Amino acid sequence: MIGLMNARRDAYGLRSLDIERLRTKGGTKWQTPGLPFAAWVADMDFDVAPEIADALRHLVDRSEFGYPDWGGIFALSPAARLFPSRQAERYGWEPRIDRLHDLADVIQGVRATIFHLSQPGDGVVLHLPAYHPFLHTIEEMDRELVPVSWTGDAFDYDDLEQRLAASGGARVWILCHPHNPLGRVFERDELERIADIATRHDLVVISDEIHADLTLPGHAHIPFESLDPTVSARTVTVTSASKAFNLAGLRWAVLHAGHEPMHRALERLPGHYLGAPNIMAVTATVTAWTHGDDWLSAVIDVIDENRRVLPELLTEHLDGARCHPLEATYLAWVDCRSLGLGDDPAHTFRARGVEVNPGNQFSPHGHGAGHVRLNIATSPAILAATVMAMAG
Ligand SMILES: Cc1ncc(COP(=O)(O)O)c(C=O)c1O
Repeated sequence: MIGLMNARRDAYGLRSLDIERLRTKGGTKWQTPGLPFAAWVADMDFDVAPEIADALRHLVDRSEFGYPDWGGIFALSPAARLFPSRQAERYGWEPRIDRLHDLADVIQGVRATIFHLSQPGDGVVLHLPAYHPFLHTIEEMDRELVPVSWTGDAFDYDDLEQRLAASGGARVWILCHPHNPLGRVFERDELERIADIATRHDLVVISDEIHADLTLPGHAHIPFESLDPTVSARTVTVTSASKAFNLAGLRWAVLHAGHEPMHRALERLPGHYLGAPNIMAVTATVTAWTHGDDWLSAVIDVIDENRRVLPELLTEHLDGARCHPLEATYLAWVDCRSLGLGDDPAHTFRARGVEVNPGNQFSPHGHGAGHVRLNIATSPAILAATVMAMAG
């Protein structure tokens, strides 16, 4: 009876992963030579929902790789056309179908928006620590980082206001919502404060909501554009099914331009300038959003269990390491400063056979020193083995 209950509880095999099989995977996560544990890049160790695997298999079996019929009145992929009802069902927000654009990935949307709405030298506001490709974006595009610093308990918006007043101002705010790497969900009052600052300083907000579907029990995701129409009018939302459904290699994302000038800028681009969606990614996304929610609930269950046991595992094996409670995502921000491993504890963990992301990657301002980002989207047993290996 107990065996049957456990089998039901683990209907997708998420709790019984085979680490030897993971080690043979060809993707970047498990391919660092000589490292037996991979807890870094934001891929999950779970197989995709069986419905998605079946849908992709169906395409392969029928050799469905010709040009798809995705014309339609707005010339949008079926995944983009599904996005408004998906958002309405889950979050009560109704994106405008006439403001949607297909993309290859979320960072493309962030970069395209910065390119169109700002000039080299302009400021870009960003919470620190930050997902490192945002930092690379600002640097590679010759924009100026205007940081909102994490104090350990909260972001310092008073300091941001002073920076905005002292500098030449900024044009854009990249909002990572929910936040990677802190795993925080922005609640309504904080979102309203962000919207208020953006309005007073005339900033366009790029809201990256790729982790929204990975909001954990006890918390609720509020799409930034849903705050009110005036907020929507200064916002560009970018997202994808790729994080929640573990599809990062397939490459598809969607951009909603509440901000009309950005919509017009994208419309004026020559056709195919930003490429066109691929059939595997679109099929996987449509299947995820129509048939994937059972699987997603099972995944959230495992992540929820892992986020709850992680502090105990750290106390048991890496006493003194602390983890900010995760509210969303499967990326835990672990403070290792009291372990005596210096500014880059990831270096020591790597020597012990575990790949994690070094905290320094996420901030040029020192917020990441002594921290690591640990990916907990794996089975509870592999998570426990990983933390034990980190302890050496
Ligand atoms: C906040 C955030 N945005 C964007 C991405 C990457 O998205 P894409 O591969 O679609 O550019 C990630 C990946 O981990 C992420 O965490």
